[in-house]
Amino acid sequence: MTSTIEVKSKHLEKMTAKSEFEKDVERGLTSQPKRLSSKYFYDDEGSRIFQEIMNMPEYYLTNAEWEILTKQSDAIVERLDFGEEFSVIELGAGDGKKTFELLAYLKGQDLDVHYRPIDISGEAIKHLEKNLRLKLPNLKIQPLVGDYFKVLSELPSRKKPALFLFLGSNIGNYEKDGAMKLMQTFGKYLQSGDKMLVGFDIVKNPRTILSAYDDSQGITRRFNLNLLKRMNRELGMDFDLDKFDFYPFYNPNNGEVRSCIVSLEKQCVNGFEFEENELIHTELSKKYTLEEIADLAKQSGFRFIENFLDSQKLFADSLWEKV
Ligand code: AVJ
Repeated sequence: MTSTIEVKSKHLEKMTAKSEFEKDVERGLTSQPKRLSSKYFYDDEGSRIFQEIMNMPEYYLTNAEWEILTKQSDAIVERLDFGEEFSVIELGAGDGKKTFELLAYLKGQDLDVHYRPIDISGEAIKHLEKNLRLKLPNLKIQPLVGDYFKVLSELPSRKKPALFLFLGSNIGNYEKDGAMKLMQTFGKYLQSGDKMLVGFDIVKNPRTILSAYDDSQGITRRFNLNLLKRMNRELGMDFDLDKFDFYPFYNPNNGEVRSCIVSLEKQCVNGFEFEENELIHTELSKKYTLEEIADLAKQSGFRFIENFLDSQKLFADSLWEKV
């Protein structure tokens, strides 16, 4: 039987989570320029749209990283320098399609791995767990739903080493300073000798990069506008999606793709004023040079070990050691 207190605290938890979102929206829509954080893209619907993005021909990142983990798992595992038993802790696991290749390799080598995927979307992680239990029935898996830092701070202490995964170019969402602070914070949960594999999208032909975000089917547009839908759903707001558009742009001078929502007319939504053509900044998707990757490792308190690139040099999984 569930006690009243439990029910109450569950309810409260939901309310606090919601008001955090609400506060961020209020702050973002009264800032100049307006902004909404891309971390709010990933409700269950947003996570589903992101799956569609990963299947788009223009979104080269997913296939490139999949190739790395398919063809170079042996080389990566060799550089880990771990014994037979270790944990693989994945930050932002999503559907785990790429990680499957690494896990399948590890099981094939008879290594005793304990896989702990962490993701904010309960639905995404349920799929991942179901899929892995089917395809790798002997794998020890402990899925964890929630915010990275909350889940990390609740992990029991380990005697075995761990490989942390932060794949898919998720790091690209952070400004220079934010990326460094994030990796430093992750570093606090690593023990000396633990490794971290971080996925970076590499600078390349600017058209290739822009196409990945300005796709012809409008899937990335739907991904961004879902944020307005989510605000309607969860915060009871009244955005008319027909009065907004999506606009991404790439600056090859600094490797930054910036995504925006554009107000197509002067309008007022729940007290927030929008000018015609006013931008709401939603996402940074930063592309790195190999030099920037090595610098970030060092500045975040890691020892850079090696970059694993796909055959077309589109993407890098960079292996670092906690010192
Ligand atoms: C999940 C943050 C890596 O920035 O490329 C894809 C999200 N946004 N298309 C990225 C995204 C638009 C993606 N990351």
